[in-house]
Amino acid sequence: MQETDFLEPNNITLNKVGMRDKFIIEGRHKLKGEIDIWGSKNASLPIMAASLLNSGDLILDNVPPVKDNLTMAEILRYLGLSVEFLEGDKVLIKGEPKGYRAPYELVSRMRASFELMGPLLAYFGEAEIPYPGGCRIGLRPVDLHIKGFESLGAEITVDKGFVCARAKKGLKGAKIHLDKPSVGATRNIMMAAVLAQGETIIENAACEPEVVDLGNFLKSMGAEIEGLGTSTIYIKGKKELQPIDYYKIIPDRIAAGTFIIAGIMIGKDLVIKNIEPEHLQSLFIKLKEAGVNSLQIRDREVRVKGEKVWKGIEVTTMPYPGFPTDLQPQMMVFLSLAQGTSLIVETVFENRFLHVGELLRLGAKISIDGRTALIQGVEKLKGAPVEATDLRAGAALVLAGLVAEGVTEVLDVDEHIDRGYVALEEKLSTLGANVKRVSYEEGKKVSDLSL
Ligand code: EPZ
Repeated sequence: MQETDFLEPNNITLNKVGMRDKFIIEGRHKLKGEIDIWGSKNASLPIMAASLLNSGDLILDNVPPVKDNLTMAEILRYLGLSVEFLEGDKVLIKGEPKGYRAPYELVSRMRASFELMGPLLAYFGEAEIPYPGGCRIGLRPVDLHIKGFESLGAEITVDKGFVCARAKKGLKGAKIHLDKPSVGATRNIMMAAVLAQGETIIENAACEPEVVDLGNFLKSMGAEIEGLGTSTIYIKGKKELQPIDYYKIIPDRIAAGTFIIAGIMIGKDLVIKNIEPEHLQSLFIKLKEAGVNSLQIRDREVRVKGEKVWKGIEVTTMPYPGFPTDLQPQMMVFLSLAQGTSLIVETVFENRFLHVGELLRLGAKISIDGRTALIQGVEKLKGAPVEATDLRAGAALVLAGLVAEGVTEVLDVDEHIDRGYVALEEKLSTLGANVKRVSYEEGKKVSDLSL
């Protein structure tokens, strides 16, 4: 990163080296009003990657200018495309890729960059992407992606930290059984298979809405794909795809879920708009089980009235349509304030309880045994300085700060929360919360906690 401030579109500013941002939250202010949910980050990322397969000018609509999307844009520019963020969460993508090797500095910022391998391999017959490595929520290997590409006839080597895939004579359709329904592997293989010779069948495929959205994007370019949203996806490879000029990304179900949980805990009358309720069924079911009866679910919005009490329940994270791991930390905050005991079992990632230590600092009572968290409900949380350790853990700590008594400081929000939430402090402030963003020197984390 450079020493100077680096201004990206839509006023996203990356900090100077050694500087970080934190949120200072004065808790207990009620949330009221309307919030428009932005487009899904986890659908935007692979669809931006798949735009390598489109020719001509393409406008992707509903692409939020979150940091991860800016990183993807930078990588696409490096590969030779022109990518411009326009008003209203639109991105204009033009040109054709000139290179098939993605740079380590950019890929290391975000694991989803590995999903460039499928489209690059399909387009060039070769691709070189740095091995993405582990991250704090788990080891997150890419073996299933690699096995999939090998089944399609690619030769894979690892050279100086890069995964190199070659299929000079083109890819050939194959039957691929995924050991786990990996979201990323399903998408990467799909993007490669649309231009392979013959039919590809992906068994035990991921059913997440973000997989379906990518599939629909590819279908709009003429790809032949069936079975989207089920565990078996059939793809008939084409010689080429047709250019398209517009595609609109689905709403972000995780952002929506985050605001819904916030609204239940500290809302007065909150309307969460531009959502797809169908994608949030597992959350609605669990909230109902906990005794939340005031949600009014309509066509494209949910009206949330704050609840006074709710009870402890058991939640197990699972691939879609199960309860999403990306809402597990936020749900843990909710259950920390429930009457009685709750259990959360995290089955998707092996280390996604990093927020627990921080929630303890706020007065939550949680113990962990392997992948299970036992939560003893408390009457209230009390403000304290806490550290965002990953994107959703950070979001959960913000929710905890909103509902806690006193002042909570959430550190490192630019590193984590900004990756997936658009100007969260502004959105919450508009709804009545008292949240300020403040820059601090990395060494000087904690202020005197006064607003
Ligand atoms: C996607 O990650 C999301 N990221 C994650 O969102 C989300 O938590 C995850 O799916 C699960 O829903 C994007 O869409 C960009 P996986 P992905 O492959 O594709 C294991 C967020 O907060 N696995 O479905 O990386 C893996 O280790 C993020 O927005 C292998 O073993 O997830 C994990 O335990 C974080 N080998 C499980 O499968 C592989 O080759 C599911 O991972 C691939 C995955």
